[in-house]
Amino acid sequence: MAYENIIFEMEGDVAVIKINRPKALNAINADLLTEMSDALNKIEKNTSVRALVLTGEGDKAFVAGADIGYMVKLDPLQSRKFSRYGQEVLFGLEKLPIPVIACVNGFALGGGMELAMACDFIYASENAKFGQPEINLGIIPGFGGTQRLSRLVGKAVAKELCMTGVMITAQEAKEIGLVNKVFPAEKIWEGTMKTANVIASKGKVSMKAVKRCIDRGFDLDLHSGCYMESDNFGLCMSSPDGKEGMSAFLEKRKPEFKGELS
Ligand code: CAA
Repeated sequence: MAYENIIFEMEGDVAVIKINRPKALNAINADLLTEMSDALNKIEKNTSVRALVLTGEGDKAFVAGADIGYMVKLDPLQSRKFSRYGQEVLFGLEKLPIPVIACVNGFALGGGMELAMACDFIYASENAKFGQPEINLGIIPGFGGTQRLSRLVGKAVAKELCMTGVMITAQEAKEIGLVNKVFPAEKIWEGTMKTANVIASKGKVSMKAVKRCIDRGFDLDLHSGCYMESDNFGLCMSSPDGKEGMSAFLEKRKPEFKGELS
């Protein structure tokens, strides 16, 4: 599939998807979702990809939301379908076995903030702005925002953001636990790729296991989550990468992870 609304490229072992509609502040329409879904399928099938970074083309926006010009023409059933489609693509992103970092380089509003929240964590530039402004349009978030935001920052803060529609700064987003790190604008890409490359250098089996345990365990009770952790711990201990990592420590050398059994 040829891409018109995204740019998909590799930087070493790290895949990069740039949302590419800068004239509309990278607003999301159905074609963009289809292209993203296609790129995510390719990434899932390519076992040499070790991490994914998601960002917006241009320096003004990550994504300023779902495309309002596109949405305004939809009838209620088509709107429901669009919402479900966006949610499905974001579930596809969330369930990728490799780590995904959102590199937020400007506005991350509405569907844009929802897209960032479906990543494993968010890095933001100092000039980034976050918000769920749908209430100002007389609608509500439709790509999982009412659900993921409360899970990330708690119900009361999620309600305040969705009920007021206000924009918050990158620093405020960090204070509420939405963003992990804030960088000067000229350093955000370098900082994000540095972390992506650190992640890419680790063992594949253990990377998948840690993501699986944290994501699946989040909705479990503590005892069930810990039980699942032990199963995954046993899997990692029996993997060639686990043996290599521990032997390398004892032999005082750098490990060479091969990623078998991933
Ligand atoms: N949809 C469609 N087009 C958008 C857009 C969006 N979400 N956001 C920005 N654009 C377009 C503008 O219409 C404008 O296009 P033209 O040049 O053709 O007029 C262009 O991008 C530049 O935008 P502005 O001139 O408005 O730029 P600004 O710097 O003055 O303002 C902004 C920036 C504050 C982000 C403002 O554009 C804005 O408020 N955008 C809408 C944000 C929003 O409401 N997002 C939620 C959408 S609903 C949603 O996402 C639902 C869901 O959960 C699925």
